[in-house]
Amino acid sequence: EQEVEQLGMRFWDMLDTLVDLIWEPEQQTVQLFIMATQMHESGIRSENLTTMGNAIRESCRAVMGVDWTPTMGDTVDWFWNCCKRTMAKTLDTIDRDDATILRQSWESCQEKCTKDELGECFFNQLCNIAPHVIHLFRRPKKIQAFQFAHAVDMLVQFSEEPEQFFSELKPLIIRHIKYGVKADYVKPFGKAILKAIEICQGSLWNERVAECWRTMWVRVSSTVQRSLNVGTNLVVVSLVQGDPEKLSDAIDCAPRGERFDWLLSVNINGEILSPLMWAIRDGKFALAEYVIDHLLEIRADRHAYYYGREKLFEKHPEVVTVLCSDCPALMDTLMDGLMWHSHSVNQGFVQVNYYLKEMYGDPKLIKNVWNSPVAQVTKLGTPDMFNHPLLNKLCLIKWHRFGKKFFIMMQIFYDLVLVMWTVGFVVYQDDCSLSLI
Ligand code: HEM
Repeated sequence: EQEVEQLGMRFWDMLDTLVDLIWEPEQQTVQLFIMATQMHESGIRSENLTTMGNAIRESCRAVMGVDWTPTMGDTVDWFWNCCKRTMAKTLDTIDRDDATILRQSWESCQEKCTKDELGECFFNQLCNIAPHVIHLFRRPKKIQAFQFAHAVDMLVQFSEEPEQFFSELKPLIIRHIKYGVKADYVKPFGKAILKAIEICQGSLWNERVAECWRTMWVRVSSTVQRSLNVGTNLVVVSLVQGDPEKLSDAIDCAPRGERFDWLLSVNINGEILSPLMWAIRDGKFALAEYVIDHLLEIRADRHAYYYGREKLFEKHPEVVTVLCSDCPALMDTLMDGLMWHSHSVNQGFVQVNYYLKEMYGDPKLIKNVWNSPVAQVTKLGTPDMFNHPLLNKLCLIKWHRFGKKFFIMMQIFYDLVLVMWTVGFVVYQDDCSLSLI
C-alpha cells in the first residue's frame, strides 16, 4: 500500500511539473526526457502509457464529481497525448538499448582514429555540407578537434544520462549564441557529425547503428534548435554581431519606460545576462559605449524624465571596477554621463549638475573603504582619469567633508612626534637615565 502511495505521489509531482510548464514547451520537453528515463527505471514501458492516461482521466473525473464536463475529458486526453508522444520515444530508445550501441560506436571510432583525424574528418564534412558555417570556427585545428570530440561525448551522454546533459545544455546554448550559431545551422551540423562517424567507424557501421545516431540526433537537435530560436532576439543578435546600430534599432522597439531594462538584462532561455557586461567581456567596446551613453542620457516625454543612472548602479554596483580594469577608455563616457551642464551662459557662468551619489559611495553600504568607486579608480584606473571634472568635484567634496580634517589631524600628530623627537635628541642628548621616562 505504501508503494502504491509513493507511486501516486510521484505521479502527482510529475503532472504538477508538466502542467506548470505548459507555456514553456522547451522546458516541458526537457522534463519529459528526464521523467521518461526515471519511469523506465520503475518498470514503465511505452505500452503502459495509454493505461496511465486513462487512469489520469478517471482520477480527475472522480475528483471533480458532478462538475466534470466532456470538454475537461478532452483537455486531459489532449494534454496526456502530447506528453505521451515524447515519453514513448524515450522509453522505446531505452528499451532498445540505443545508449549502449551509441557508446560502443563512439568508442570504436576513437580506437580507429585519433582525435585529430576525427576532427579533420568532421570539418571536411562540414565544409562540404555547410560551408557557410565554417567562419564560426576560429580556433586552431587541434582545439577544434578536441571540441568536436567533446560535442560527440555530450551527444552520447544525452542518451545515457539526459539529466546531466540538460544541466550542461543551458550554458552551452548561451555560448553557442555568442559564437553566432543560428537554429538553421543545427541540421547541417548534425549531418556532418553523422557522416564523420560513419566514415571513421568504417565496416562496423550498419543500419542499426545509423538508426541509433539518427534517432538521438533528431531528439537532441529539436531541443537545441528550439533553445537557439527562443534565446535569439533582436538584442542578442546585435550583441553577437557587436553592432551598435542594430542594438539601437532593437532598443527602439522597447516601450520608453522599459528601455533601461532591455539594456541591462536579456533573457536567454531563462538565464538573465547583462548586455553591458557581455559587451565589455567580449571586447565589444562600441556596444558598451552605446549602452552607457543611452542609459546616462537624460530624456523626457509627457509622462516622465528618464535617466538610467540609478538602474545602472543598482544592477552593476561594480561597474567602475569593471570599466577601470577591462576598458578604462569608457570611464570618460561613464563620467560624462554623470554630469549635466546648461547650454546657456549666465553672468559668465555655466550651470553644471553632478550626479555622483553612487560614485561617492555610501559608507553604510561599503564597509571596506577600498571598495568604494573612487578607491577603485585609484587602484585600477589611470592618473589622467582624475582630470575629469566629475572626479575633480568628487575629490573636492570629500576633501572638504572629511579629507581636510583628517589630513590636518595627521599633520598635527606628525608635528608632535617631530617636536618630541627633536627635543629628545637636542635637549636630552646625553641623559639616558630612566627618570626621563
Ligand atoms: C547538440 C549540439 C551541439 C553540441 C553538444 C555542441 C557542443 C560543443 C562543445 C562542447 C563545444 C566546445 C566549446 C564550448 O563548450 O563552448 C562547441 C563549440 C562550438 N560549436 Fe558546438 N555543439 C553543438 C551544436 C553546434 C552547432 C549546430 C553549431 C553550428 C555550426 C556549433 C558550432 C560551434 C562553434 C562555432 C564552436 C566554437 C568553435 C571555436 O571556438 O572555434 N555547435 N560545441
